[in-house]
Amino acid sequence: MSAKQKLTEKRPWLAWVLFLTTVVVVFFLGLLASSIVERRTEAAYVNVPKAEIGKFEPRNEVWGQNYPREFQSYYGTADTSFQSKYNGNTMIDMLEVDPRLVVLWAGYGFSKDYNQGRGHFYSITDIQNTLRTGAPKTPKEGPMPATCMTCKSPDVPRLMNEKGVAAFYTGAWAELGAEVVNPIGCADCHDNETMNLTVTRPALVEAFERMGKDITKASHQEMRSLVCAQCHVEYYFDKKKVDGAQYLTFPWDNGFSVEAMEEYYDNLEFSDWTHALSKAPMLKAQHPGYEIHSTGIHAQRGVSCADCHMPYKSEGGQKFTDHHMQSPLNNIANSCQVCHREEAGTL
Ligand code: HEC
Ligand code: HEC
Ligand code: HEC
Ligand code: HEC
Repeated sequence: MSAKQKLTEKRPWLAWVLFLTTVVVVFFLGLLASSIVERRTEAAYVNVPKAEIGKFEPRNEVWGQNYPREFQSYYGTADTSFQSKYNGNTMIDMLEVDPRLVVLWAGYGFSKDYNQGRGHFYSITDIQNTLRTGAPKTPKEGPMPATCMTCKSPDVPRLMNEKGVAAFYTGAWAELGAEVVNPIGCADCHDNETMNLTVTRPALVEAFERMGKDITKASHQEMRSLVCAQCHVEYYFDKKKVDGAQYLTFPWDNGFSVEAMEEYYDNLEFSDWTHALSKAPMLKAQHPGYEIHSTGIHAQRGVSCADCHMPYKSEGGQKFTDHHMQSPLNNIANSCQVCHREEAGTL
């Protein structure tokens, strides 16, 4: 009699345990195999391109035919139901929240209208509706330079390619308005052929050049922040660079800190406006998200904008990048708790 036979004879239930364990293991192996096959079929199905995406294709709907998950999640930016203590995606009239801003910005467009921003879906609607721009005097001139549209639409790279960059910055807003119609989208961040992340706005490339850096050498992880740095930055319009143009420029030559940027502006004797009451020359930081991020602990540890604002998501067995860019506080489980173990309240 073998040792095993002896064992099962003494304890007959042990044979049953062994048998049932085997059944359970085989069952789960089968489940795993079927799920792998399913995912493979799905991946093959997803990767069949349905639409031909041309260079500078500004319509998100066209890209969406080939990449439905990213496209559908992108439309999450249309949601306006989340409000956090300071941010969120509801439009908040900041002049009403704090009327002192009207006096602080006297003589500057922001004293007429300043809203807490919302999702990318609204970029065109909101620039068309803002009271800051006023009404055009004639269709050709003004009220604002076309440069204001640089961070609003994937029609911008298309127009810059057609007209030339300096010519784009020379136009008036009303003149190009009919051409800038698609809200921020795929062509702002992706190459149409490879789908690789790409920088489409020249101001970022030029700022890197002036800092002695070659942006084409940026790592994949850096690109996951640089696509956002095309727009979420401090900027000004250089009126001296090209005759007649309001040339979009990032004031980074001395560094990303408030002091470094102030020094940059002081050296140029540049100010955003002269205060209507005090006559003081004034600067107003716009939205230096990239600069602030760069000086923080997360950037030091190599965490990118996309890590928090575009976490991975799973749907029907497919893992993809959630294109619903929003306040991470509306999605703490995926945005923060993949790296941090603290409870949301503690974090
Ligand atoms: C082409 C310019 C552009 C690019 C590129 C861009 N943004 Fe934006 N973003 C905007 C504008 C403009 C708004 C404000 C839209 C509005 O209020 O109508 C905005 C709004 C937002 C908001 C606020 C949304 C809300 O719900 O309140 C977040 C968050 C955001 N962007 C994150 C990002 C991240 C992260 C990236 C990079 C992955 C990025 N953006 C890339 C221009 C851009
Ligand atoms: C503001 C920049 C931005 C915009 C706009 C944008 N994407 Fe992305 N996209 C990203 C980032 C960042 C990633 C992650 C890339 C990586 O890490 O390799 C990504 C990844 C992807 C991928 C690779 C698969 C995946 O899900 O990770 C696809 C496909 C894609 N995006 C499609 C789209 C489509 C379609 C649109 C338009 C509806 C779009 N993207 C708009 C930044 C953007
Ligand atoms: C460590 C995670 C993290 C990283 C990395 C990060 N952010 Fe944020 N971001 C947040 C949080 C948290 C908020 C605050 C949201 C709130 O108060 O509702 C926020 C707010 C914002 C907002 C305002 C959102 C709103 O609802 O109005 C924008 C725009 C934004 N971030 C852009 C960026 C950009 C661009 C980068 C990269 C340069 C970046 N963020 C990197 C976590 C992050
Ligand atoms: C990709 C990983 C990653 C993600 C996503 C992430 N963090 Fe972090 N976080 C880190 C790392 C790494 C550090 C640095 C830890 C250290 O060096 O001690 C850090 C540090 C912090 C700190 C401490 C800051 C300090 O000055 O010491 C806080 C608070 C924090 N994170 C909050 C958040 C919140 C809130 C979110 C979501 C909006 C978030 N983090 C998303 C990786 C991440």
